[in-house]
Amino acid sequence: MTKIITYGTFDLFHEGHYRLLKRAKELGDYLIVGVTTEAYDKARGKLNVVDSLVTRIENVKKTGFADEIIIEESQGQKINDIRKFHVDIFAIGSDWMGAFDYLKDCCKVVYLERTKNISSTMLREKNSPIQRIGIIGTGRIAERFIPEARLVSGVSTQGVYNPHKDSALRFADRWEITPYENMEDFFSAVDVVYIASPHDTHYGYIRSALEHGKHVLCEKPMVLCKAQAEELFAYAGEKNLILFEGIKTAYCPGFHKLLGIACSGIIGSVRNVEACFTKLEKKGGRELNDRIYGGSFTELGSYVMLPILKIFGKDYTSIRFDTIQGENGLDIFTKVSLNYPTGIATATCGLGVKSEGRLLIAGTKGYIVAEAPWWKTSYFEVHYEDAGKVDKYSETFLGDGLRYEISDFLSMIRGSSSSEFKLTRGESVALADIMEQFMKTENRL
Ligand code: CTP
Repeated sequence: MTKIITYGTFDLFHEGHYRLLKRAKELGDYLIVGVTTEAYDKARGKLNVVDSLVTRIENVKKTGFADEIIIEESQGQKINDIRKFHVDIFAIGSDWMGAFDYLKDCCKVVYLERTKNISSTMLREKNSPIQRIGIIGTGRIAERFIPEARLVSGVSTQGVYNPHKDSALRFADRWEITPYENMEDFFSAVDVVYIASPHDTHYGYIRSALEHGKHVLCEKPMVLCKAQAEELFAYAGEKNLILFEGIKTAYCPGFHKLLGIACSGIIGSVRNVEACFTKLEKKGGRELNDRIYGGSFTELGSYVMLPILKIFGKDYTSIRFDTIQGENGLDIFTKVSLNYPTGIATATCGLGVKSEGRLLIAGTKGYIVAEAPWWKTSYFEVHYEDAGKVDKYSETFLGDGLRYEISDFLSMIRGSSSSEFKLTRGESVALADIMEQFMKTENRL
């Protein structure tokens, strides 16, 4: 009996997939089809897969060509499958020509000609037109955003707005996009808006983008006032638009795995969360000089508050801010202490004091520890009373990680609510509220 194996995502099942499976089966007697998991696709940078794993398996099954369907979970699995299932032929489409020659030591490798003019990517684009992103702001984060957005299929970076004409021109030139100094022209040329301007300008830009009927992805902290956050979410809801706060950690796969473990009971009931993030900033920058909107908490507070809100929720019974101030009165180091009915938490951040950036989640049976940069979670450990027992978890974190939030933002625009739980509106409002309380304590408002 000749056994053949092939692999694919098989998203939005199409004729190219059908023909590939048919020809693969014709190569022998028994066809095994490996269908990729969502996590594996995400890990290898294939974002925006539309169909669930179950649907994709069902579609492969319906063709009647597969004698066995397996799931492909990780890189390196193919060679093990080939050995395990005693496979004679590995077949794959010609778009992969040469990529699997290394399997020739184990079996015959056949590249089948790809069917022309059809692909899942084409169907995704046809079903949901490309979203043209307009960027407001030309700083460091906007610089990181463009290369990340280019990796997400279904979006294109159209143009940039900055009231300072020269900055807009320089930025647009570097990234080969269109510069706009007129807001109306900008809004009429884009479908969605990414806001990466200074904190104090967020509210005005969000409001204006929503008024123009645009979905909004705004950098954290979205706003520094609870009433503004509530008003903007309500307005976006009325207009059926997505308003999305971009805290990249909230969308990163490793952070999700960590939250899942924290809430699974493995470490018992969680009683303490400590999150710390410090980043020494140069003296001349906006972060250490903007007397109202600068300082460590407005800059990094969203990251350190995130795991606390995700684990303990929004109903803290008390909150206290302790700060170390620099010469100009801005906080260069801030510690927030929160009490909850079932636990306590501290969020620490600094721009002028360096500390060990760690996330520690302590429970009644054990604790989770993720070292810096835990805000780009790729590795964490679970420890128990028995010091010899340590569970280690890792997860891919690609590039600057903004691709995950862009991809979730896009799927929400396309009507899926499956990623909404990653950072709920209520959590964004709670963050704005905490920022506001901090600003009041510091006499900045
Ligand atoms: N395939 C094919 N002809 C096409 C499209 C895909 O023969 N027009 C083959 C691929 O070469 C692969 C299998 O079908 O062997 C599964 O491919 P998959 O990556 O799931 O499909 P694509 O349509 O290429 O997906 P995407 O656009 O997301 O890359």
